[in-house]
Amino acid sequence: MIIDVSDIAREIDTGTFEEAVRRSQALRADFVVHPQRYRVLTGDRPTGPLHIGHYFGSLQNRVELQNLRIETFIVIADYQVLTDRDSVESIPENVRELVLDYLAVGLDPGTGRTHIFCHSHVPALNQLLLPFLTLVGMGELDRNPTVKEEIDAAGLKTVNAAMYTYPVHQAADILFCKGNVVPVGRDQLPHLELTRKIARRFNQRFCVDRPPVFPEPEALLSNAPKILGLDGSQKMSKSRNNAVMLRATADETAALIKKAKTDVDRHITYDPERRPEVSNLLLIASLSTGEDPHSIAARIGDGGSGTLKKVVTDALNGLLAPIRARRAALVQDPAIVRETLTRGIATATEIAEATLRETRKAMNMGYGLD
Ligand code: TRP
Repeated sequence: MIIDVSDIAREIDTGTFEEAVRRSQALRADFVVHPQRYRVLTGDRPTGPLHIGHYFGSLQNRVELQNLRIETFIVIADYQVLTDRDSVESIPENVRELVLDYLAVGLDPGTGRTHIFCHSHVPALNQLLLPFLTLVGMGELDRNPTVKEEIDAAGLKTVNAAMYTYPVHQAADILFCKGNVVPVGRDQLPHLELTRKIARRFNQRFCVDRPPVFPEPEALLSNAPKILGLDGSQKMSKSRNNAVMLRATADETAALIKKAKTDVDRHITYDPERRPEVSNLLLIASLSTGEDPHSIAARIGDGGSGTLKKVVTDALNGLLAPIRARRAALVQDPAIVRETLTRGIATATEIAEATLRETRKAMNMGYGLD
Protein backbone atom coordinates (compact mmCIF):
# COMPACT_ATOMS: atom_id res chain seq x y z
CA MET A 1 0.00 0.00 0.00
CA ILE A 2 1.23 3.49 -0.80
CA ILE A 3 1.19 5.90 2.10
CA ASP A 4 0.61 9.45 1.03
CA VAL A 5 0.09 11.76 3.97
CA SER A 6 -1.11 14.59 1.77
CA ASP A 7 -4.21 12.47 1.13
CA ILE A 8 -5.28 13.08 4.66
CA ALA A 9 -5.54 16.83 4.35
CA ARG A 10 -7.24 16.44 0.99
CA GLU A 11 -9.80 13.91 2.07
CA ILE A 12 -10.71 15.50 5.39
CA ASP A 13 -10.46 19.05 4.10
CA THR A 14 -13.41 18.78 1.79
CA GLY A 15 -17.04 19.65 2.46
CA THR A 16 -17.18 16.96 5.12
CA PHE A 17 -15.32 19.15 7.56
CA GLU A 18 -17.37 22.29 6.98
CA GLU A 19 -20.57 20.31 7.17
CA ALA A 20 -19.40 18.77 10.47
CA VAL A 21 -18.69 22.26 11.84
CA ARG A 22 -22.18 23.43 10.91
CA ARG A 23 -23.83 20.35 12.37
CA SER A 24 -21.80 20.68 15.57
CA GLN A 25 -23.14 24.20 16.10
CA ALA A 26 -26.71 23.09 15.53
CA LEU A 27 -26.23 20.16 17.91
CA ARG A 28 -24.84 22.42 20.64
CA ALA A 29 -27.88 24.67 20.37
CA ASP A 30 -30.24 21.70 20.67
CA PHE A 31 -28.39 20.07 23.61
CA VAL A 32 -29.70 22.79 25.88
CA VAL A 33 -33.29 22.35 24.70
CA HIS A 34 -33.48 18.54 24.35
CA PRO A 35 -30.70 16.90 26.39
CA GLN A 36 -32.72 13.68 26.62
CA ARG A 37 -32.53 13.13 22.84
CA TYR A 38 -28.80 12.55 22.93
CA ARG A 39 -26.52 9.77 23.95
CA VAL A 40 -22.86 10.62 23.67
CA LEU A 41 -20.09 8.08 23.13
CA THR A 42 -16.50 9.18 23.15
CA GLY A 43 -13.19 7.71 24.16
CA ASP A 44 -9.43 7.54 24.23
CA ARG A 45 -6.68 5.06 23.73
CA PRO A 46 -4.85 4.40 27.00
CA THR A 47 -1.41 5.52 25.84
CA GLY A 48 -0.48 7.76 28.79
CA PRO A 49 -1.70 10.48 31.12
CA LEU A 50 -3.52 13.45 29.60
CA HIS A 51 -2.22 16.99 29.08
CA ILE A 52 -3.78 20.43 28.82
CA GLY A 53 -4.30 19.97 25.06
CA HIS A 54 -6.67 17.10 25.90
CA TYR A 55 -8.30 19.22 28.57
CA PHE A 56 -9.09 22.20 26.35
CA GLY A 57 -9.77 20.05 23.29
CA SER A 58 -12.07 17.42 24.73
CA LEU A 59 -12.29 16.86 28.50
CA GLN A 60 -13.83 20.27 29.20
CA ASN A 61 -16.43 19.58 26.54
CA ARG A 62 -17.31 16.22 28.12
CA VAL A 63 -17.82 17.80 31.52
CA GLU A 64 -20.12 20.40 29.93
CA LEU A 65 -22.20 17.66 28.31
CA GLN A 66 -22.43 15.89 31.65
CA ASN A 67 -23.58 19.12 33.28
CA LEU A 68 -26.25 19.52 30.59
CA ARG A 69 -27.57 16.16 31.87
CA ILE A 70 -26.65 14.31 28.66
CA GLU A 71 -25.84 10.64 29.12
CA THR A 72 -22.21 10.04 28.19
CA PHE A 73 -20.28 6.80 27.65
CA ILE A 74 -16.50 7.03 27.72
CA VAL A 75 -14.69 4.06 26.22
CA ILE A 76 -11.08 3.33 27.09
CA ALA A 77 -10.04 1.71 23.82
CA ASP A 78 -7.47 -0.73 25.19
CA TYR A 79 -7.61 -3.20 22.28
CA GLN A 80 -6.81 -0.33 19.92
CA VAL A 81 -3.41 0.08 21.60
CA LEU A 82 -2.39 -3.22 19.99
CA THR A 83 -2.77 -1.80 16.50
CA ASP A 84 0.62 -0.08 16.47
CA ARG A 85 2.65 -1.72 19.26
CA ASP A 86 3.30 -5.19 20.61
CA SER A 87 4.02 -4.40 24.23
CA VAL A 88 1.19 -4.57 26.74
CA GLU A 89 3.38 -3.75 29.70
CA SER A 90 2.28 -0.16 30.20
CA ILE A 91 -1.44 -0.69 29.61
CA PRO A 92 -2.54 -1.12 33.27
CA GLU A 93 -0.68 2.00 34.36
CA ASN A 94 -2.03 4.00 31.43
CA VAL A 95 -5.61 2.90 32.09
CA ARG A 96 -5.20 3.88 35.72
CA GLU A 97 -3.83 7.33 34.87
CA LEU A 98 -6.59 7.90 32.35
CA VAL A 99 -9.34 7.05 34.82
CA LEU A 100 -7.76 9.30 37.46
CA ASP A 101 -7.53 12.16 34.95
CA TYR A 102 -11.19 11.71 33.97
CA LEU A 103 -12.35 11.77 37.57
CA ALA A 104 -10.06 14.66 38.48
CA VAL A 105 -11.45 16.94 35.76
CA GLY A 106 -14.96 16.31 37.03
CA LEU A 107 -16.34 13.44 34.98
CA ASP A 108 -18.45 11.80 37.63
CA PRO A 109 -20.05 8.34 37.39
CA GLY A 110 -21.88 9.30 40.59
CA THR A 111 -24.22 11.42 38.45
CA GLY A 112 -25.53 8.16 36.97
CA ARG A 113 -25.10 9.71 33.51
CA THR A 114 -21.37 9.27 32.94
CA HIS A 115 -20.10 5.75 32.32
CA ILE A 116 -16.39 4.96 32.10
CA PHE A 117 -15.41 1.49 30.84
CA CYS A 118 -12.74 -0.33 28.84
CA HIS A 119 -13.95 -2.24 25.79
CA SER A 120 -11.85 -5.34 26.49
CA HIS A 121 -14.25 -6.17 29.34
CA VAL A 122 -17.49 -5.90 27.39
CA PRO A 123 -17.66 -9.10 25.27
CA ALA A 124 -21.03 -8.29 23.68
CA LEU A 125 -19.67 -5.01 22.36
CA ASN A 126 -16.76 -6.79 20.71
CA GLN A 127 -19.05 -9.34 19.15
CA LEU A 128 -20.76 -6.65 17.09
CA LEU A 129 -17.49 -6.42 15.19
CA LEU A 130 -18.27 -9.67 13.33
CA PRO A 131 -21.46 -8.64 11.52
CA PHE A 132 -20.04 -5.14 11.05
CA LEU A 133 -17.00 -6.53 9.21
CA THR A 134 -19.35 -7.99 6.62
CA LEU A 135 -20.70 -4.53 5.86
CA VAL A 136 -17.37 -2.98 4.89
CA GLY A 137 -15.22 -3.47 1.80
CA MET A 138 -11.47 -4.06 1.89
CA GLY A 139 -11.01 -1.00 -0.35
CA GLU A 140 -12.76 1.22 2.15
CA LEU A 141 -10.42 0.07 4.91
CA ASP A 142 -7.39 0.53 2.73
CA ARG A 143 -8.30 4.12 1.83
CA ASN A 144 -8.88 5.40 5.38
CA PRO A 145 -6.63 8.50 5.58
CA THR A 146 -6.29 8.49 9.37
CA VAL A 147 -5.20 4.85 9.40
CA LYS A 148 -2.64 5.63 6.70
CA GLU A 149 -1.28 8.48 8.77
CA GLU A 150 -1.04 6.34 11.89
CA ILE A 151 0.85 3.63 10.04
CA ASP A 152 3.21 6.30 8.77
CA ALA A 153 3.63 8.03 12.14
CA ALA A 154 4.38 4.77 13.94
CA GLY A 155 6.90 3.82 11.25
CA LEU A 156 5.46 0.32 11.01
CA LYS A 157 7.23 -2.11 8.71
CA THR A 158 4.47 -4.66 8.92
CA VAL A 159 0.91 -3.73 9.61
CA ASN A 160 -1.42 -6.02 11.52
CA ALA A 161 -5.03 -6.56 10.47
CA ALA A 162 -6.36 -4.83 13.59
CA MET A 163 -4.80 -1.61 12.32
CA TYR A 164 -6.97 -1.77 9.21
CA THR A 165 -10.07 -2.94 11.01
CA TYR A 166 -10.04 -0.82 14.15
CA PRO A 167 -12.32 1.79 12.57
CA VAL A 168 -14.92 -1.01 12.30
CA HIS A 169 -14.28 -1.90 15.94
CA GLN A 170 -14.76 1.77 16.73
CA ALA A 171 -18.20 1.53 15.10
CA ALA A 172 -18.98 -1.22 17.64
CA ASP A 173 -17.75 1.10 20.44
CA ILE A 174 -20.21 3.73 19.29
CA LEU A 175 -23.18 1.68 18.16
CA PHE A 176 -23.39 -0.83 21.03
CA CYS A 177 -25.09 1.88 23.09
CA LYS A 178 -26.78 3.51 20.09
CA GLY A 179 -24.70 6.62 20.65
CA ASN A 180 -25.92 9.40 18.38
CA VAL A 181 -23.31 12.07 19.12
CA VAL A 182 -19.56 11.48 19.04
CA PRO A 183 -17.26 14.30 20.17
CA VAL A 184 -14.13 13.92 18.08
CA GLY A 185 -11.18 15.74 16.60
CA ARG A 186 -10.92 16.33 12.89
CA ASP A 187 -8.70 13.28 12.37
CA GLN A 188 -11.53 11.02 13.52
CA LEU A 189 -14.06 12.20 10.93
CA PRO A 190 -13.29 9.37 8.46
CA HIS A 191 -13.94 6.85 11.24
CA LEU A 192 -17.25 8.45 12.07
CA GLU A 193 -18.22 8.44 8.42
CA LEU A 194 -17.56 4.70 8.36
CA THR A 195 -19.65 4.20 11.50
CA ARG A 196 -22.52 6.02 9.83
CA LYS A 197 -22.20 3.78 6.78
CA ILE A 198 -22.17 0.65 8.93
CA ALA A 199 -25.32 1.76 10.77
CA ARG A 200 -27.05 2.60 7.50
CA ARG A 201 -26.03 -0.63 5.78
CA PHE A 202 -27.02 -2.77 8.77
CA ASN A 203 -30.45 -1.17 8.88
CA GLN A 204 -30.92 -1.47 5.11
CA ARG A 205 -29.75 -5.04 4.89
CA PHE A 206 -31.25 -6.57 8.01
CA CYS A 207 -34.12 -4.37 9.10
CA VAL A 208 -36.31 -4.43 6.02
CA ASP A 209 -39.46 -5.50 7.90
CA ARG A 210 -38.60 -4.03 11.25
CA PRO A 211 -37.56 -0.70 12.76
CA PRO A 212 -33.90 0.21 12.23
CA VAL A 213 -31.57 -0.99 15.00
CA PHE A 214 -28.92 1.74 14.81
CA PRO A 215 -28.89 5.54 14.65
CA GLU A 216 -26.44 7.28 12.32
CA PRO A 217 -24.29 9.12 14.81
CA GLU A 218 -23.03 12.64 14.25
CA ALA A 219 -19.65 14.17 14.97
CA LEU A 220 -19.37 16.94 17.51
CA LEU A 221 -16.27 18.98 16.81
CA SER A 222 -14.62 20.93 19.60
CA ASN A 223 -14.99 24.72 19.62
CA ALA A 224 -11.63 25.27 21.27
CA PRO A 225 -8.73 26.42 19.11
CA LYS A 226 -5.90 23.90 19.08
CA ILE A 227 -2.89 24.62 21.25
CA LEU A 228 0.66 23.91 20.08
CA GLY A 229 3.52 22.35 22.00
CA LEU A 230 5.53 24.62 24.32
CA ASP A 231 8.50 24.23 21.97
CA GLY A 232 6.42 25.85 19.25
CA SER A 233 5.96 22.58 17.35
CA GLN A 234 2.62 21.77 15.81
CA LYS A 235 1.48 19.21 18.32
CA MET A 236 1.47 19.10 22.08
CA SER A 237 2.38 15.57 23.14
CA LYS A 238 3.99 13.85 26.07
CA SER A 239 6.48 12.04 23.88
CA ARG A 240 7.76 15.34 22.47
CA ASN A 241 8.28 16.61 25.99
CA ASN A 242 6.48 19.85 25.17
CA ALA A 243 3.28 19.25 27.14
CA VAL A 244 1.92 20.28 30.53
CA MET A 245 0.38 17.15 32.00
CA LEU A 246 -2.76 17.57 34.08
CA ARG A 247 -1.09 15.74 36.93
CA ALA A 248 2.09 17.90 36.89
CA THR A 249 2.75 19.98 40.02
CA ALA A 250 2.53 23.79 40.05
CA ASP A 251 6.35 23.97 40.16
CA GLU A 252 6.78 21.55 37.27
CA THR A 253 4.31 23.65 35.29
CA ALA A 254 6.23 26.84 36.06
CA ALA A 255 9.52 25.22 35.01
CA LEU A 256 8.05 23.97 31.72
CA ILE A 257 6.59 27.34 30.83
CA LYS A 258 9.85 29.05 31.73
CA LYS A 259 11.56 26.93 29.08
CA ALA A 260 8.85 27.57 26.48
CA LYS A 261 9.96 29.06 23.19
CA THR A 262 9.15 32.73 22.53
CA ASP A 263 10.69 35.37 20.24
CA VAL A 264 12.90 38.44 20.50
CA ASP A 265 10.22 41.15 20.36
CA ARG A 266 9.65 42.44 23.91
CA HIS A 267 6.32 43.95 23.02
CA ILE A 268 3.71 41.22 23.47
CA THR A 269 0.99 40.93 20.84
CA TYR A 270 -1.48 38.21 19.87
CA ASP A 271 -0.65 37.33 16.29
CA PRO A 272 -0.90 33.56 15.66
CA GLU A 273 0.32 33.85 12.05
CA ARG A 274 3.52 35.79 12.66
CA ARG A 275 4.20 35.02 16.32
CA PRO A 276 3.01 31.43 16.83
CA GLU A 277 4.95 30.74 20.05
CA VAL A 278 3.99 33.93 21.90
CA SER A 279 0.41 33.63 20.67
CA ASN A 280 0.21 30.02 21.80
CA LEU A 281 1.19 31.06 25.33
CA LEU A 282 -1.41 33.83 25.27
CA LEU A 283 -3.98 31.33 24.05
CA ILE A 284 -3.20 28.98 26.95
CA ALA A 285 -3.67 31.88 29.40
CA SER A 286 -6.87 32.88 27.63
CA LEU A 287 -8.34 29.37 27.69
CA SER A 288 -7.43 29.12 31.39
CA THR A 289 -9.10 32.36 32.51
CA GLY A 290 -11.64 33.14 29.79
CA GLU A 291 -10.03 36.52 29.09
CA ASP A 292 -9.50 37.53 25.47
CA PRO A 293 -5.90 36.88 24.32
CA HIS A 294 -5.58 40.39 22.84
CA SER A 295 -6.49 41.97 26.13
CA ILE A 296 -4.01 39.76 28.02
CA ALA A 297 -1.33 40.86 25.51
CA ALA A 298 -2.27 44.52 25.93
CA ARG A 299 -1.89 44.26 29.69
CA ILE A 300 1.58 42.74 29.37
CA GLY A 301 2.61 45.30 26.74
CA ASP A 302 6.38 45.80 26.88
CA GLY A 303 6.78 43.37 29.79
CA GLY A 304 8.52 40.86 27.50
CA SER A 305 8.45 37.09 27.63
CA GLY A 306 9.34 37.05 31.35
CA THR A 307 6.06 38.75 32.28
CA LEU A 308 4.17 36.71 29.68
CA LYS A 309 5.42 33.46 31.17
CA LYS A 310 4.48 34.55 34.67
CA VAL A 311 0.97 35.44 33.51
CA VAL A 312 0.56 32.09 31.72
CA THR A 313 1.91 30.12 34.68
CA ASP A 314 -0.46 31.84 37.13
CA ALA A 315 -3.45 31.40 34.82
CA LEU A 316 -2.78 27.73 34.16
CA ASN A 317 -1.92 26.86 37.75
CA GLY A 318 -5.09 28.65 38.83
CA LEU A 319 -7.16 26.51 36.48
CA LEU A 320 -5.41 23.27 37.37
CA ALA A 321 -5.22 23.73 41.16
CA PRO A 322 -8.67 22.26 41.93
CA ILE A 323 -8.13 19.44 39.39
CA ARG A 324 -4.81 18.54 40.97
CA ALA A 325 -6.27 18.70 44.47
CA ARG A 326 -9.03 16.31 43.42
CA ARG A 327 -6.51 14.00 41.83
CA ALA A 328 -4.36 13.97 44.97
CA ALA A 329 -7.40 13.00 47.02
CA LEU A 330 -8.46 10.29 44.54
CA VAL A 331 -5.03 8.70 44.54
CA GLN A 332 -5.41 8.10 48.28
CA ASP A 333 -8.26 5.70 47.57
CA PRO A 334 -6.74 2.39 46.41
CA ALA A 335 -10.06 1.08 45.06
CA ILE A 336 -11.28 4.09 43.09
CA VAL A 337 -10.11 3.01 39.63
CA ARG A 338 -11.36 -0.55 40.01
CA GLU A 339 -14.72 0.65 41.33
CA THR A 340 -15.15 3.16 38.52
CA LEU A 341 -14.43 0.56 35.85
CA THR A 342 -16.55 -2.15 37.51
CA ARG A 343 -19.51 0.16 37.50
CA GLY A 344 -19.02 1.39 33.93
CA ILE A 345 -18.43 -2.14 32.62
CA ALA A 346 -21.64 -3.40 34.27
CA THR A 347 -23.72 -0.67 32.62
CA ALA A 348 -22.02 -1.08 29.24
CA THR A 349 -22.44 -4.88 29.36
CA GLU A 350 -26.15 -4.72 30.03
CA ILE A 351 -26.69 -2.35 27.12
CA ALA A 352 -24.35 -4.23 24.78
CA GLU A 353 -26.10 -7.55 25.47
CA ALA A 354 -29.49 -6.03 24.68
CA THR A 355 -28.15 -4.54 21.43
CA LEU A 356 -26.47 -7.81 20.46
CA ARG A 357 -29.76 -9.69 20.97
CA GLU A 358 -31.51 -7.15 18.78
CA THR A 359 -28.92 -7.52 16.02
CA ARG A 360 -29.08 -11.33 16.17
CA LYS A 361 -32.85 -11.20 15.77
CA ALA A 362 -32.52 -8.82 12.84
CA MET A 363 -29.99 -11.21 11.22
CA ASN A 364 -32.35 -14.20 11.65
CA MET A 365 -30.10 -15.71 14.28
CA GLY A 366 -32.42 -15.44 17.28
CA TYR A 367 -33.74 -19.03 16.89
CA GLY A 368 -36.31 -18.20 19.55
CA LEU A 369 -33.54 -18.37 22.16
CA ASP A 370 -33.14 -14.69 23.03
N1 TRP B 1 -9.69 6.12 17.77
C1 TRP B 1 -9.76 7.03 18.88
C2 TRP B 1 -8.38 7.69 19.04
O1 TRP B 1 -7.41 7.19 18.55
C3 TRP B 1 -10.13 6.35 20.19
C4 TRP B 1 -11.49 5.71 20.14
C5 TRP B 1 -11.75 4.39 20.15
C6 TRP B 1 -12.73 6.39 20.04
N2 TRP B 1 -13.08 4.17 20.09
C7 TRP B 1 -13.72 5.37 20.02
C8 TRP B 1 -13.09 7.73 19.95
C9 TRP B 1 -15.06 5.70 19.89
C10 TRP B 1 -14.44 8.05 19.82
C11 TRP B 1 -15.40 7.03 19.78
O2 TRP B 1 -8.30 8.70 19.69
